[in-house]
Amino acid sequence: MVPAPDFAIVSEGLTKRFGQQTAVNSIDLAVPSGSVFGFLGPNGSGKTTSIRMLLGLVQPTSGTVRVLGERMPDRLQTVLPRVGALVEGPAFYPYLSGIDNLRRYDSADRYASSRSRSVRIDSALERVGLSNAAHKKVHAYSLGMKQRLGIANALLRPRELLVLDEPTNGLDPQGTREVRSLVGVLASEGITVFVSSHLLSEVAQMCTHAAVMSAGNIVAQGTLAELRGVDTARVRVLTPDADSAIETLRHLGLVADRSHSDGTATWVLAPVRDQTAEPEIIAAALQAAGVRIRAFSVEEPSLEERFVALTGEGFDVVQ
Ligand SMILES: Nc1ncnc2c1ncn2[C@@H]1O[C@H](COP(=O)(O)OP(=O)(O)OP(=O)(O)O)[C@@H](O)[C@H]1O
Ligand SMILES: [Mg+2]
Repeated sequence: MVPAPDFAIVSEGLTKRFGQQTAVNSIDLAVPSGSVFGFLGPNGSGKTTSIRMLLGLVQPTSGTVRVLGERMPDRLQTVLPRVGALVEGPAFYPYLSGIDNLRRYDSADRYASSRSRSVRIDSALERVGLSNAAHKKVHAYSLGMKQRLGIANALLRPRELLVLDEPTNGLDPQGTREVRSLVGVLASEGITVFVSSHLLSEVAQMCTHAAVMSAGNIVAQGTLAELRGVDTARVRVLTPDADSAIETLRHLGLVADRSHSDGTATWVLAPVRDQTAEPEIIAAALQAAGVRIRAFSVEEPSLEERFVALTGEGFDVVQ
């Protein structure tokens, strides 16, 4: 067997211009195999255009893409059967049932054996939780059901990579949760999932890695912990014994400082760098020094704070 490449998707200098406009500006993506990779950016930042280039649906103006180790679009025929994709909602026939729509798509797939068709379709419907609605006409489906049918369609064959363009767009909270948990299940089976979203909260809940797009550029990329900037977490202690708290924290190598007072107690803050000290060690040291603790927390800066700083604009954090 050919070993899986370390990266499911790698792009270098990937660029798309429409006339004068640069929709995607020289992006270098590195999507680790096995990750759930969030492609986060506000409307119009170039997510769909990038995804189209990754899938060989549009020709890049310049730059290169490798998907599952193969050069795209040259190796399209070899790569596409291994990739499931949902880009801006597939077209379904509204007056056919969900199962009949999948039969049409499956019979159009020249790699798919007709003998195993019904088993394949039943299992795809089962995986997205549509078995009971399989015989309902698609025009009677909710948006969430249509989206799930789209994912079922992407799952008709075993896939190594799933590319989902805003799969929860327009879904209600229930539909959103369903798609999110489906992504989790697929990831646990070892499928790499590349999923775009303009919702920060969604990427934070669903993904292990992310790239942040802003006006056609990748402004940050890495694990979620890297994007949060773990090294800037800070410990906060509310105590009437501020002086001994500061001294104890300094003994642990933390640069502690007094913040504001809150009645009879004072907030003492200290930035914690990666692995300097575990919260439980800090708390135990404070107690051992006789510091009375009224409140104690270790806070990571929120992804939102970080992304707003990176993109200079807010993200829609509402579900
Ligand atoms: N075929 C096209 N012709 C001209 N301009 C285009 C075309 N496709 C996209 N664009 C432009 O490229 C930019 C990026 O669009 P794109 O659809 O990739 O963004 P997006 O991040 O997917 O946005 P959304 O969140 O709204 O889906 C936009 O300004 C868009 O108007
Ligand atoms: Mg889009």
